[in-house]
Amino acid sequence: MPDFTTRVLPISPDSPQPESIREAASILAGGGLVAFPTETVYGLGANALDAQAVARIFAAKGRPASDPIIVHLYDLAQLPTVAVNIPDLAYELAQQFWPGPLTLVLQRNDNLPANVSAGMATVAVRMPSHPVAVALLRAADLPIAAPSANRFARPSATTAAHVLEDLAGRIDCILDGGATVIGVESTILNLTKDQPVLLRPGGITMETLRNIIPDLQLVSKHLHEDEQGIEAPGMLYKHYSPRAELQLFNGAADVLLPAMRIRAIEQIERGKRVGFLLPDSEVASVSDLPVETVNLGATESEVSHNLFSAMRSLDQAGVDVILVHGFGQSGLGLALWDRLLRAAEGHIIEV
Ligand code: TXA
Ligand code: MG
Repeated sequence: MPDFTTRVLPISPDSPQPESIREAASILAGGGLVAFPTETVYGLGANALDAQAVARIFAAKGRPASDPIIVHLYDLAQLPTVAVNIPDLAYELAQQFWPGPLTLVLQRNDNLPANVSAGMATVAVRMPSHPVAVALLRAADLPIAAPSANRFARPSATTAAHVLEDLAGRIDCILDGGATVIGVESTILNLTKDQPVLLRPGGITMETLRNIIPDLQLVSKHLHEDEQGIEAPGMLYKHYSPRAELQLFNGAADVLLPAMRIRAIEQIERGKRVGFLLPDSEVASVSDLPVETVNLGATESEVSHNLFSAMRSLDQAGVDVILVHGFGQSGLGLALWDRLLRAAEGHIIEV
């Protein structure tokens, strides 16, 4: 139930207007919540040094207190204020990939309230590159805790309209800088273990990271809520989910579409409304069926840019079931597979 009005401040994504940035920064300094675009998805920001402000993030999102939040910086000089015992590898990675879509898990500095990290001894940190995010972080001159700006378990928000859909009346302000570019979240790398571990594939690909960390491995993709000792407490199944049931198909290209068509017809016969998420080249192959179709684009980066928005638009269209297949396991395909698998609650239909 909305309890107050959320202000929407339009802002240029390339040269953000200083007045709007100052206004948003003063809301953050006063303990309020501001949603802002990053190069990946919209973030929901609060002063990371203010435990009460951080608590408001959890409340606004309906996020469990066990799910830690990423802290955002604009300057490497801020890093020692949020992390301790920072390994050389962190500086090497920062040098190469910051600002940009890479998050590093480090040992937490006790300066930071424990609730940012869900009570853990570590902290996830990243330096975004989006000009609005950079300007806001600089003006606030504070480390800013910011999860994706969606209600818990919903697809991440890639436009201000998505943020409003989920959080209107629950947050103070949205800086509306248009659609984000990458569309899936940052890559998360844990540097607090003996070996660096990839916790979440994202905007910086595994292949790119392997240039610096040749033996880098992804943590088990099959995390379930009841599993013990999970590496990234927030990365449970049932995440990034549309309201409709998402059915994820996997198999050779020549058998995928025929199998998806058969499934669609079965579902329609059962009275279900069916939606397809398909790349450009495949949209025509279901045009004879009474289904909703969203075109994801032609390239991996277009699919990544469109994916969450496409899930939300099929929800808006009121479908019961969404049929989709993966886009390989290399490059951005790995991040897409991870998001689709979680949206499908871990179920894969092998064909
Ligand atoms: O691209 C992004 O990373 C976006 C933008 C806004 O920066 N943020 C984002 O935050 O995706 P969020 O909260 O939706 O996802 C961050 C995930 C959490 O679910 C949690 O699993 C993991 O990061 N995480 C955060 N702190 C961690 C920590 N100390 N150790 C392990 N995992 C952590
Ligand atoms: Mg999220």
